[in-house]
Amino acid sequence: MQHILLDTDTGVDDALAIILALNSPELKVEAITSVSGNVHVDLCTRNLLMTLEALGVKEYPICAKGEAHPLIKPLVTAAHVHGSDGLGDVTRLLTSTGARRYPDPEPRLTAMSAVDLIIDLAGQYPDELVLVPVGPLTNIAKAMIKDPTRMRRIREIVLMGGAFETYGNVTTTAEFNIFVDPQAVQLVLDFGVPVTMVPLDVTHQVVLTGKRLQSEIGQRNDRLSQFLRDVTHTTMEFHQDREGVYGTYIHDALPIGLLTQPDFFETVEAFVQVETSSDLTQGMTIADLRPGRPHLKPNARICVGVNAEGFLQHFFNRILQ
Ligand code: RIB
Ligand code: CA
Repeated sequence: MQHILLDTDTGVDDALAIILALNSPELKVEAITSVSGNVHVDLCTRNLLMTLEALGVKEYPICAKGEAHPLIKPLVTAAHVHGSDGLGDVTRLLTSTGARRYPDPEPRLTAMSAVDLIIDLAGQYPDELVLVPVGPLTNIAKAMIKDPTRMRRIREIVLMGGAFETYGNVTTTAEFNIFVDPQAVQLVLDFGVPVTMVPLDVTHQVVLTGKRLQSEIGQRNDRLSQFLRDVTHTTMEFHQDREGVYGTYIHDALPIGLLTQPDFFETVEAFVQVETSSDLTQGMTIADLRPGRPHLKPNARICVGVNAEGFLQHFFNRILQ
């Protein structure tokens, strides 16, 4: 059993990661925290709780609200991808009686901040807690600044972020989670806790098309199936307009898969650097991945390959079980 803390900027694919994590018996989701990214943390927090309510979760993980602003940069969001509410505009959907299909959730939040909860759990589960940040790394970096002693007991950080041998998705060179708070990423890489990065190089290989979703859930009208249709529609339309494919990436689900199904993934050790100052390339992640190149002392593991179909089938097997 792996004890994990999922740090999210929910987010359509964050919601899918939450669903997969809660349907992974190999994992004990000790907590889910929120951070500004796809949308402001106020909305990310609401979206996290709405996702848990939509799932009809009986036993909630501890949920805590996190940082509103990156360490240094002004916040950049991605509402154009995830909808103005950050959750595929599901808050606009109405039932036949005119009520909101997804009402605002019960405020099931701990009084602790995300930063303090991360530190507290690092101390409760020394050398066991795995952090899974799937948004900007602001919460993680601030926890390291505030209590380095307890944060050194983190077992591993498995994050979604970066773009090494592929273009970025925010700028030509930068992936969103790194771009929003590059200083936080550099601090986390320098801190010394083992880091595994799941970059666009692999997450862009796993596309959930509208056709595939339909073939998996068919005419099912249970809450989860309805939520999956509703929450993915906006991002599928975005990709239809931008890339001509009615589908969406499920970026944030892949780190969960790496933890429970490592055989679907290929990783390499590398020395990773982050561009934190250039206006043109800030948020770029740099590593020399050519085989046989003498690496500077590696500071991260990078996921460079994925069995895309195998993982996608696993995703559905687990969440629709
Ligand atoms: O670049 C993709 C990442 O940015 C995902 O985590 C998505 O949710 C957004 O946060
Ligand atoms: Ca995310």
